[in-house]
Amino acid sequence: MPTRLSKALVSTTNTNIAKYHWQSQNVKQSGVDDMVLLSKITEDAIVDNLKKRYMDDYIFTYIGPVLISVNPFKQMPYFTDREIELYQGAAQYENPPHIYALTDNMYRNMMIDGENQCVIISGESGAGKTVAAKYIMGYISKVSGGGSKVQHVKEIILQSNPLLEAFGNAKTVRNNNSSRFGKYFEIQFSRGGEPDGGKISNFLLEKSRVVSQNENERNFHIYYQVREGASAQQREALGIMTPDYYYYLNQSGTYKVDGTNDSKDFQETMEAMQVIGIPGDIQTQVLQIVAGILHLGNISFIEAGNYGQVESTDLLAFPAYLLGIDPNRLQDKLTSRKMDSKWGGKSESINVTLNQEQANYTRDALAKALYARLFDYLVESINKAIQKPYEEFSIGVLDIYGFEIFQRNGFEQFCINFVNEKLQQIFIELTLKAEQEEYVQEGIKWTPIEYFNNKIVCDLIENKLNPPGIMSVLDDVCATMHAKGEGADGTLLQKLQAAVGTHEHFNSWNSGFVIHHYAGKVSYDINGFCERNRDVLFPDLIELMQSSEFNFIRSLFPENLNTDKKGRPTTASSKIKKQANDLVNTLMKCTPHYIRCIKPNETKRPKDWEESRARHQVEYLGLRENIRVRRAGFAYRRLFSKFLMRYAILTAETWPCWRGPEQQGVLHLLRSVNMDNDQYQMGRTKVFVKNPESLFLLEEMRERKFDTFARIIQKAWRKFIARKKYEQMREEASDILYNSKERRKNSINRNFVGDYLGLEQRPELRQFLAKRERVDFADSVNKFDRRFKSIKRDLILTPKGIYLIGREKVKKGPEKGQIKEVLKRKMEFGGISSVSLSTRQDDFFILHEAQYDSLLESNFKTEFLSLLSKRYEEVTKRKLTISFGSSCFRLEFRVKKEGWGGGGTRIVVFQKGPGDVAQLKPGGKTLSVTIGDGLPKSSSSLYRRTAALLLKHTLRSLSSAHQNGGAKFPRGPHNPQADITYSSPQKQDMFKKDIKKERKRPPPAPKPQPRPQGPRCRALYQYVGQDTDEISFEANDVLDLVKEDPSGWWTGRIGGKEGLFPGNYVEKI
Ligand SMILES: Nc1ncnc2c1ncn2[C@@H]1O[C@H](COP(=O)(O)OP(=O)(O)OP(=O)(O)O)[C@@H](O)[C@H]1O
Ligand SMILES: [Mg+2]
Repeated sequence: MPTRLSKALVSTTNTNIAKYHWQSQNVKQSGVDDMVLLSKITEDAIVDNLKKRYMDDYIFTYIGPVLISVNPFKQMPYFTDREIELYQGAAQYENPPHIYALTDNMYRNMMIDGENQCVIISGESGAGKTVAAKYIMGYISKVSGGGSKVQHVKEIILQSNPLLEAFGNAKTVRNNNSSRFGKYFEIQFSRGGEPDGGKISNFLLEKSRVVSQNENERNFHIYYQVREGASAQQREALGIMTPDYYYYLNQSGTYKVDGTNDSKDFQETMEAMQVIGIPGDIQTQVLQIVAGILHLGNISFIEAGNYGQVESTDLLAFPAYLLGIDPNRLQDKLTSRKMDSKWGGKSESINVTLNQEQANYTRDALAKALYARLFDYLVESINKAIQKPYEEFSIGVLDIYGFEIFQRNGFEQFCINFVNEKLQQIFIELTLKAEQEEYVQEGIKWTPIEYFNNKIVCDLIENKLNPPGIMSVLDDVCATMHAKGEGADGTLLQKLQAAVGTHEHFNSWNSGFVIHHYAGKVSYDINGFCERNRDVLFPDLIELMQSSEFNFIRSLFPENLNTDKKGRPTTASSKIKKQANDLVNTLMKCTPHYIRCIKPNETKRPKDWEESRARHQVEYLGLRENIRVRRAGFAYRRLFSKFLMRYAILTAETWPCWRGPEQQGVLHLLRSVNMDNDQYQMGRTKVFVKNPESLFLLEEMRERKFDTFARIIQKAWRKFIARKKYEQMREEASDILYNSKERRKNSINRNFVGDYLGLEQRPELRQFLAKRERVDFADSVNKFDRRFKSIKRDLILTPKGIYLIGREKVKKGPEKGQIKEVLKRKMEFGGISSVSLSTRQDDFFILHEAQYDSLLESNFKTEFLSLLSKRYEEVTKRKLTISFGSSCFRLEFRVKKEGWGGGGTRIVVFQKGPGDVAQLKPGGKTLSVTIGDGLPKSSSSLYRRTAALLLKHTLRSLSSAHQNGGAKFPRGPHNPQADITYSSPQKQDMFKKDIKKERKRPPPAPKPQPRPQGPRCRALYQYVGQDTDEISFEANDVLDLVKEDPSGWWTGRIGGKEGLFPGNYVEKI
C-alpha cells in the first residue's frame, strides 16, 4: 500500500538523509530517535540525547536495529491497542521508536524469511527487562490470530508470567520485582504465524534466597502472597502465622513492598496454575510445600556435646505433616547422615551424627532442594501445557537476571554476572566484531573501529585450561573437599591467586577476589563459594522425601539411589557454564535482535535522571562503538541468493527466478529501483545496503507488488467463501423482517454486497476508521433532519460501531472553501437502544440512541439491519430491539438539541397509497410517507438459484460497485432504473401465486428459438469491464445479446468480443 513513507521516499532517497525524516508531522520531536543520526558521537551526546528524550517521556531510542529502552518507572500512555495497530506491518522508521516496532519486525521477518528470531534483553537489575519481555509477549498475542486452541496457548504464555514471577522473583535492594532466575521463552508458531506452542528454559534459580535474605530484601514473592491472600481455611491447614514468626522470612525484617498487593497477586498466581492445568489437589500440595519449607526453617538446633540436637521437637510435627513424612525420621535425617566407609576390601554404611552447624546446613539444603524442584516442576507444567510435537518457527525472548553489584556479593552474583558477561559477548560478537570481520571477508573497504571485547573476562571465568579459569579451579577444589569442607574457601582463594592472580581483570583481597567485569568491578566474598558450588543433595534427604505419603512430593525426587552412581557430581558452576554456552548456541542459530535496557536511577522514581549512572551504562554497554560501527557500516546485508529470493517479485526478469549469475541479478534489481550507486556495495557473496531508507524503498516496492497480488488472491478467496456467507445472510435478513414488514418486490432475492461505497479506494472515508477496521456495510443513505429535509450521508457499519459521514465546506486555513468529509456521528453499539421501522415496504428506519435519534432511508436497510443486529449482539451480548411501527403506522423520533432549536420529537406516519415509490409530505412536526402495498410480510427467499450464479453475481456487483463507484449502482425509489430487477416481472407474479410450488418445481428452461438475427440491446450507460470475461461499452453502443441470465449478468458481443455485462446497463431493442 502506498504510504506516507513511500511518498517521502520518492522525493528524498536521492537527496540527503537529514531532509528525509520519518517522524510524521504530528509527533513531537525530542532529540534524535535513531542515534546513528547524532551529529557528534560522544558519550556526552548519547547521554544528553537519552536524557532529553527520557524527560520528554520518550523511553525508546534506536541505534539502527538495536532498541535502547530507559526505565520510566511509571506507566507510559503508548502501550494501548492504538499503538498495536499503528506498529503492525509498519516500517521501522514510519513511527516513533517502540518495542512494538521491534517485535513486529521479528514477527514479520520470521514469517517472510522463514527464520527463527530471538531477542536478547539485557541491562542491569531493575532496568526493565522483564517488563519489556511482557510487552513483547502481549504484542505477539494481540497481533496473531488463531482458533480456540491457539487462544489457549496464548493464555498460558501470558499466565506463565505471574506464576513464574511469584515463585522466581523477589524484592531486592535493586528491584522490587527482581527476577531471581533466567528465562528463555521460545514462542513457537505455525506456518500461518499463529502461536501454537512454546518452550521455557530456566536458568539457575537463586535458591539461597529461600533460607536467607539480605537486609531490605525479601524471600520469593509466593511466601508473602500465601500469607496475605490465603483463605482462613487455607491458613489453618497450612499453619500460616505472622511473617516474623518464620526464620526464613524474619532475617531481613522486610515484609511489604511498595506498590505490591500480595493478596491480589496470590489470586493471580492461583488462577495461573488453574489456566496452566495444574490439578486442584496438586495446587494444594504446591502450597503445602511452600508452607512446609517455612515450618522447616523454624526447626533449630542446639549443640549437645559436639552433636546437633533439635531444640524443640514440637516444631517437627507440622512440617512433617505438611510434607507427608514421619517426624522422627525427619529429626533423624536432619541430625545424622549415612556414610559409606571402606574397611579392608569391604564397604559398609555407618551413621554419622552431625554437629549443630552441619544440622543447620542439612535443614537449609533440604529447604532449597524442595523449593528448586518445585520451581522446576512449575516450569515443566507450563512446558507440558504448550509443547508441540514438532517445531516450525519460533521467536525466543531472553530475560535473565541483570548484572548486579551488592554490598556483599556471593556465589550467586558471580554466576549471574557471568551470564551477563556472556550476553555482552554475543552482542559484541554479532554487532561489533562479526560485522567488521564480515566487511573484511567480503572485501568491502573498511577502517576498523576499536571497542572493548569482554571475551577476556569470559575466559577468565570459564576457561578450562591454560590458564584454568575461576570455575575450573573452583570445581577442582570442590572435588577434593570433605563433607562440610571447612577451609575449602581459603584453599580456593589461594589456588585462584596462583592460577589467575596476574590476570588484568582479576585481583584478590582479604576475604575474596575482585573481577573487573565489562560493567564494573565487583568484589566477591569467597565465603560459601565451595559449598554452594558443590550443591549436592545428600542421599539421606532424597530418601527422606521419597518416603512422603504424597505422590506429588515423591515425584519431585525421582532419583534411583541404588543405581545412580556417584562419579564426579555436577557442580553449580559447571551447570551454569553449560547452560550459558548452550544458550549462546541457541541464540546464534536465530536472527538476533537486541533491547538494551538502561536504569536511570536507584530511587525507582519517574523523571529522576542520575547522570553518572546513565553515563556508566552507556559506556559499558558500548553504545558509542555501536553507533560508530553502524554509521560507518551498512544497515543491511544479504546473501545474493536470499536477496534475489526476497525481491524476485519486483521485476519480470527475476520472477519466479533469475537466470544468470546471482550477482548480476542483484544488480539488476537494485537498478530497477534506481538505487544510487553510493547506497550499496557488492561483496563477494553478499550485497550491502548503506542506509535503512534505501532498503525501505525496496521493501515498499515489494509490498506494493504483493498488495496487487494479494488482491487477486483475495478475490478468489472471497469467491470461495461468499456463497455460504451471503446465503446465510439472506436467510437471517428475512428472519428479521419476517411477519413484521412488507418487502419490496425486488429486494427479497437481492444478494448482499456489504460495501456499496468501495471503501478500499476511498481514503477520504477510510480516514475515520482505524487502520485495519473491517467494513461490514457501507452505503450512501438519506438522512432526515428536524424539518424532514433529506441530506446524503455515508453510513458505515464496522465491528466497532456505526459512522455517519457527511461533507462540509472548510471555513479556515489553507484548504478554505474546499468540501471535506466530516464524521457527523459515531454510534457505539452500547449506546443504541433500538431500531424502528414501519410495517410497510418503505426504506425508512430510525436508529434510537440515548440523546437523539437518526431517521435514515436506505435501499439496503434489510442488509444493514441484519449485519447490525449480529454485531450488536456480539458486542453487547444482548439482542438488538427492532420494533415495527404501532398499529397506526406511526414512528416517533427525537431530534438533536441544537442551540436555540430545542430537541423535541418528530413523527413519521406511514400510509397506504399508490405505487412502490414512497411519497413524502412534511408538515410541521409530522412527516407522512405514502407507499403502495409490498410483498406479504411472510415473504421469504423466492428460489435458490444455482450457487455459482449467485456467487458470480455477488462478486460482480461487488467489483462493479468498487470500480464504477457506488453511486452508479442502480438503486431505490428515487432512481428510475431501480425497477430493472434481477427477476423478471413474470417471475414475480408467479411468486405471488405460489411460492412453494415454485420452489419445488422450477419451470422448464425455455428452448432456444432459432432466429435469423439474434436480439440486440442498446447501452444506457457506459460500462467498463472489470474482469477478463467481461466486455466494455459506451452509452448508446449497440450490442448483440447472446444470453440473458436471471442473475443479472448477461452475455453479449461487441466489436467481435463476447463477454459478460450487467443486464441493467442496457435496454433491449
Ligand atoms: N516500560 C516500563 N514502564 C513502566 N515501568 C517500568 C517499565 N520498565 C520497568 N518498569 C518498572 O521498573 C521495575 C523493574 O523492572 P523489571 O522488573 O523489568 O527489571 P529487570 O530488568 O527485569 O530487573 P531484574 O534483573 O532485577 O529482574 C518494574 O517493576 C516497573 O516498576
Ligand atoms: Mg527481571
